[in-house]
Amino acid sequence: MLHVPFLRLVKFHVTTALLFTWTDFKTIFFPITVFACATAPLNSPVRLFQGCCWIWLHLLLCNVSNQVQGHAEDAINHPWRPLPSGRLTKNECFALRWVIVGICLMLSVLFGNDMVYVTLALSVTTILYDECGLSGHPIGKNLCAVGGYISFEVGATKIIGPSRELDIISLSAISLSGIIILTTIHSQDFSDVEGDKALGRMTLPIYAPELSRLFTLFIIPFWSSVLCCICRTGMVPSFLLLTLGSFSGFRYFQWRTSEADKLSYLIYNIWLTTIHLLTFHVRRNTY
Ligand SMILES: *[C@@H]1O[C@H](CO)[C@@H](O)[C@H](O)[C@H]1NC(C)=O
Repeated sequence: MLHVPFLRLVKFHVTTALLFTWTDFKTIFFPITVFACATAPLNSPVRLFQGCCWIWLHLLLCNVSNQVQGHAEDAINHPWRPLPSGRLTKNECFALRWVIVGICLMLSVLFGNDMVYVTLALSVTTILYDECGLSGHPIGKNLCAVGGYISFEVGATKIIGPSRELDIISLSAISLSGIIILTTIHSQDFSDVEGDKALGRMTLPIYAPELSRLFTLFIIPFWSSVLCCICRTGMVPSFLLLTLGSFSGFRYFQWRTSEADKLSYLIYNIWLTTIHLLTFHVRRNTY
């Protein structure tokens, strides 16, 4: 019985940590894990477990940093998050933001010096994004997103793979992924236009409402076909990938309510996760 209050406390804090990262399991955690498993390639369950811990803790780093800043938008769009719902005070959240950087650095030290650089790169990206205000700049925002994704991909691929060195296939996959994210990640901003406007943030969908939808309509099918050529996927997978990509682009163009954009974003993430699986196919063909 003595342990019950303690367990309750643990449950409270674990729930708080999960709530910080909740919306980004689909956008970061699963896509990056899948990418690293396909690219590295995965060679043991222990590595997978280590990789998942590393990814989630670094996601928490980004998300606490993000949510210390963005609570006005969160109160509108995500009232259940730890800060707007009052699970943490602003000061506690601020302290947590830097404590987690320390914890991530210590975790990366355990894996080796190269991983410390990855954590530092990700921390610098969050500082540029949140503390330096690039989150309110339409291009700066996308550049930070690319820096973030690439750091996650490099870190996760190094941990999950059989060797700490990234080979030419991994490096190509990470570079391509960076370009694709740079040109498509604004699709996350369509559903948040109201909240972002209230905050005075400038995103691509606010800056160029019509053009950004038109661009999305074409760019997702475009990347789908480029990848089908580069990776030499067969007829049926190519057809499925093109259909998924075109559907995702078409949805953004055709249905423009915030609700519709949320679903489109989910479909975009399914597409993004699927294309990040393609390295698996490339590796199978080259061995
Ligand atoms: C969480 O972090 C990821 C990675 O930087 C970012 O893409 C995402 O927007 C963040 N989400 C929240 C809610 O802070």
